[in-house]
Amino acid sequence: MTAPDFGFRRGDAIVVTGAGSGIGRATALRAAQMGLNVSAWDLNAGSLEETAALIRYGGGLVHTVTGDVSDESVVRTGLNGSREALGELRYLHNNAGPSSAAPLTFNDAMSISVGSVRSLTEIWAAGGLPAGAAMVVTTSVAGNLVGTEVDWYSAAKAALMGYVRHTAAHRAAEFRSNGVAPGMTDTPRLQGFAESPRGQEVLGRIPLARMASPDDIAYAVLFLLSPLGSYINGVFLPVDGGWTITQ
Ligand SMILES: NC(=O)c1ccc[n+]([C@@H]2O[C@H](COP(=O)([O-])OP(=O)(O)OC[C@H]3O[C@@H](n4cnc5c(N)ncnc54)[C@H](O)[C@@H]3O)[C@@H](O)[C@H]2O)c1
Repeated sequence: MTAPDFGFRRGDAIVVTGAGSGIGRATALRAAQMGLNVSAWDLNAGSLEETAALIRYGGGLVHTVTGDVSDESVVRTGLNGSREALGELRYLHNNAGPSSAAPLTFNDAMSISVGSVRSLTEIWAAGGLPAGAAMVVTTSVAGNLVGTEVDWYSAAKAALMGYVRHTAAHRAAEFRSNGVAPGMTDTPRLQGFAESPRGQEVLGRIPLARMASPDDIAYAVLFLLSPLGSYINGVFLPVDGGWTITQ
């Protein structure tokens, strides 16, 4: 079976943050299979290089940006370098964000989680964007449909959807904006969780009776970004196997 391309134009470019692991890696790999050139960003140089090697192995074109998306100088340099390497950057997957287990203060966490998405989006759009530009944020069912134990995680994920609604309403002449909300997703971050008592409790309530794979989320992200999603703007899309309707 040939891979779907969702109507993407071969050689268009996508920025994916957190591309060294989990959901971001899956988006980067699937985007490359669909013919997109990939600007792959991550804090972790080693895992980012693994993603880049997988893309090159599949015949794709990738440019890597190693650094922290909450550092504005990294964002500016990263976007400039990516444009030099790949040309116009039509698509943006704002995916990187700290784990709820990260030992952060509320204010730092909000600034890292939400501030980084805002600044990357603003700087990406500032130079002007090509027609059909689109952005998707990885938000979460957390904060939007489920309250988590960690206060800043719920607050940040809800705030991200607020930012998406702002850009969808007021920046649609430049780019479309949507939010994808993963449920329990089988990424390195959640290693061991499915076997824990809390993990088993959640799994027991998911009608599809399994965790999401990173690809389940990546395909939703890419559909919303793609030309096939060209009239979808401002949506919050849970990709959770139906978990939250059983809450
Ligand atoms: N796994 C889940 O169940 C789940 C559920 C809902 C939402 N999410 C969200 O999905 C996104 C990706 O999570 P994942 O599960 O794939 O995690 P992951 O830990 O597998 O991957 C995250 C990647 O992002 C990178 N990263 C983190 N902070 C960064 C920063 N400031 N700058 C650059 N890179 C950074 C990490 O180095 C890592 O490679 C996150 O925003 C997370 O909150 C995950």
